This record gives sequence, structure tokens and C-alpha cells, in this order.
Amino acid sequence: MSPFLLTRTLPEDATEAALRADVLHGLSHTPKTLPPKWFYDARGSELFDKITELPEYYPTRAEREILAARAPEIARATGARTLVELGSGSSEKTRHLLDALSGLHTYVPVDVSESALTQAGHALIAERPELGVHALIADFTGGLALPGTPGPRLVAFLGGTIGNLLPAERAAFLTSVRALLSPGDALLLGTDLVKDESVLVAAYDDAAGVTAEFDKNVLTVVNRELGADFDPEAFTHVALWDAEHEWIEMRLRSRTEQTVKIPALDLAVDFAAGEDLRTEISAKFREDGVRREVAAAGFDLTHWWTDRESRFALSLSVVR
Ligand code: SAH
Ligand code: TRP
Repeated sequence: MSPFLLTRTLPEDATEAALRADVLHGLSHTPKTLPPKWFYDARGSELFDKITELPEYYPTRAEREILAARAPEIARATGARTLVELGSGSSEKTRHLLDALSGLHTYVPVDVSESALTQAGHALIAERPELGVHALIADFTGGLALPGTPGPRLVAFLGGTIGNLLPAERAAFLTSVRALLSPGDALLLGTDLVKDESVLVAAYDDAAGVTAEFDKNVLTVVNRELGADFDPEAFTHVALWDAEHEWIEMRLRSRTEQTVKIPALDLAVDFAAGEDLRTEISAKFREDGVRREVAAAGFDLTHWWTDRESRFALSLSVVR
């Protein structure tokens, strides 16, 4: 096979249709919302990579520590020949797995961000000319189809990205992942853990303002794709800990009363001063909850590893 294949399972016009539908639905309801996958255009992916290097944003470092320590164990437990990674982004931490999986045939990074996939894919094949890389531009929440590469398959979903889905969306997502797999296959899941509120809030509202810029980037995407006239500076980034749901909620708060026009939707959206636009949640987990959620989708959790400070967990589950 050729060393680097890039398959688009998301037609470009389907992306635009989905963005229109999401923006129309999200901005004509109270409270106003925008779904998270639209954060990740080329600029958004670049800003996310900057977030991972911030002193306050501990999840990336904690998960990397676990992967570095446990990759050999993961390789022995799974014997994976195909590694599928959902929301792979830069694939940076994944290198620990790629190094440890000695019988690996193909790496399948899956992301909505074409720029992240091409950058990561080209870097990987330059480093490892023997590795097959089949990148998929696809939405992991809808009708994913995998290439027919050899099993066992290991699906990795890192970065705590599962926490960006609402509980019902997580259940549907895990069930759809299970449906892609067969006995002998496994799921490697990265989940951020419940901890002190001040640590959590700082991770999503850093002093340098990178997370604020990332959050506001979604407005720039809507401006560019749908001709809207959002002024990102007319909104303030807010990160709130919701203790009942145990998730961080990201919001953009309108500084003033204002009306935003979205010509492609023939829509004018009124914001009151102080009104919030909800952009993203980032749920935090406990071992029991993860075990229960994967079990409900047909997996048995077999391994649970944390970093030394118990901030983040990586779990391995097998198909029941
Ligand atoms: N796994 C990396 C990146 C996490 S950021 C890490 O741990 O650092 C989340 C990634 O998921 C981004 O690259 C984003 O483009 C991608 N993503 C978000 N929603 C997605 C969706 N619905 N389908 C596919 N990819 C998605
Ligand atoms: N998966 C990441 C997380 O929940 C995504 C993320 C990090 C994020 N910082 C953010 C999403 C700020 C929106 C806003 O930790």
C-alpha cells in the first residue's frame, strides 16, 4: 500500500450544510449554543496545540506520562495490528503507542481537521517510512466506516475528548464504536478526572488568554463560512465548574446588547448584555462512571491507569 492515504468521508458541502443546520438550531434556541466540532479549522487546531503546552493545561502532560509508562503493557494486552485514533489532532502522544506496537500494520488517524491530519500524517511517514498511515477526514459521532486492515484493532480516543460529548451523546458514541469492533479488539480511552475546582477552571481559562482565543475562534469560523458579522472582541470567555454534572462549561458572554447578522441563514441574532453563548463542555470522570459507561456499550474495562498525581486516567476495555 502507499505510505500515506487520506480519505475524505465528509464531503465539503456536507460540512457546510451541517454547520448551517447546527448554527441555525443553536442560535435560535435559549440558551444559545454552538457545537464544539466547529472549533477545529486550521487556526483552531493550531490554538489547541498551544493550549496543550500551557502551564495550567495539565491533561496533555498527565496523559503523556501514562502513555509513556504503559505503552508496552498496552501493546502486550492488545497485540494490535491496526491502531485507529479518533480525534487524533497532532498525533503527538500517539508516538508512544506506535513505538510499542511492534506488529502494527496500519495507523488510522481520524479527525474533522484536514490540516491537522495532513501535518501529522506527513510528519509520521517521514519518521517511520515502514508504517502504513490511512488518515480519515471524518466525524467520529456519525457513521464512521473503517478501512479493511488486519485485526486485532485498537481504537484510541485520547485527550479527554469524550468529555466534550453530553452523556447521551457519549452513550451513542460508545455503542457506535463497539459496533465497529469484533471480539479481541479493544478501546483505549483517556478521561480527565474530577478534582479541585480551581485547578479545573484554570485549565480552561489560562492567564495568557489562549483558551479564550480558541473559544472565540468558533465565531471566526461562522463569520468565514456563513458570512456572519460576529465581533469576537464583543464577547468574554467564561469557564464555569458545574458541580452537579461534574463538567466544565465554556461560554462566550456578550459584553453588550448587540445583534449579529448571519446572511447565509437569513438570520439576525439578538444578544442581551451579559447573555451567554454556550460553546463546549468538558466532563470530568471517576473510575466507576467510566466502567459503567463502557459496560453499557458492550465493553469490559480491564485496566485503569492514572498519572502519579491522579489527575487523568487512561483505561483499556475489551469487547465483551
Ligand atoms: N487527541 C489529541 C487532540 C485532542 S483535541 C490530543 O489528545 O491532544 C480534539 C480533536 O478532535 C481535534 O483534533 C478535533 O479536530 C477533533 N474532533 C473534534 N470533534 C470531532 C468530531 N466530531 N469528529 C472527528 N474529529 C473531531
Ligand atoms: N478535549 C479537550 C478538553 O476537554 C478540549 C479542550 C481543551 C477545549 N481546552 C478547551 C475545548 C477549551 C473548548 C475550550 O480538555
